[in-house]
Amino acid sequence: MRIVSPNFSDILEPNVEIKRFPDGDDYVCIPPVKNEPSLLFHRLYPNQDVSLMQAMLMLSTLKKGGSPTTLVSPYLPYARQDKIFKEGEALSAEIICNLLAHAGAKKLVTIDCHFMKREGTSVYGGLEIESISANKLLIEHARKKAGEIEVISPDIGANYLVKEFGGKSMEKKRGEYVSGRETYRKIESLERSFEVKGKNILILDDMISTGGTMLKAVENVKKGGAKKVLCAATHGFFLKDSLQKLNAACDSVFVTDSIPSPVSEVSIRPLLKKYL
Ligand code: R5P
Repeated sequence: MRIVSPNFSDILEPNVEIKRFPDGDDYVCIPPVKNEPSLLFHRLYPNQDVSLMQAMLMLSTLKKGGSPTTLVSPYLPYARQDKIFKEGEALSAEIICNLLAHAGAKKLVTIDCHFMKREGTSVYGGLEIESISANKLLIEHARKKAGEIEVISPDIGANYLVKEFGGKSMEKKRGEYVSGRETYRKIESLERSFEVKGKNILILDDMISTGGTMLKAVENVKKGGAKKVLCAATHGFFLKDSLQKLNAACDSVFVTDSIPSPVSEVSIRPLLKKYL
């Protein structure tokens, strides 16, 4: 049985009703299921907390109906904190997988899952996860735009996206957490140990969030004499004015539609083909 959330309507016809009670609680109604496997298509971003709660409600209802469920969510939020830097911090990547598994997800199908750092299937936080990579589609798209290009990643964590294409990685080091309510660790340095002079370069990452990483990487390769510079990522959040800044800094910026954005030029449909 296919259960499709309204936030997946660009890919499949939705059959789930999601409304809101006056106090802000979510109301969810799925098509009835009885002891048959289900595929649940639901995006978990934007509005990750609300979307996750909706996922919990749908998964639990499917579990109650005896339906082993595969959750298809192109981007997994809370996946970025997969290490503890300070005692007492929540290991959100593990916790979110625990919660989804407990609610009833037998498997999660997602795209470029941040902590997996490879394409394939593994079990983490009690949840089986299949992570499919968008790297080939993004690189193909870049080649259509700019012809011959060299692909690089802005840090070692994203090296798996580029290495089968002979791509090298820069080395990014983050420092301490910044103070204030908004929390992130500042980029301390971004270093490159390979030549880019006279080449068309595609900088490929799993995500563009504040754009800080990409902007630093663009600056670095331009200083190094790169010809055309393209920036691509699987997931594009483009927080604050990062899209404008990136558009001004390089020749082209694009992402997939895992999170719909004005530069979602690459469709995730072919990646999910076997589940659609
Ligand atoms: C880091 O590990 C990720 O792969 C991205 O490089 C990072 O999350 C991008 O964040 P931002 O756009 O805020 O620099």
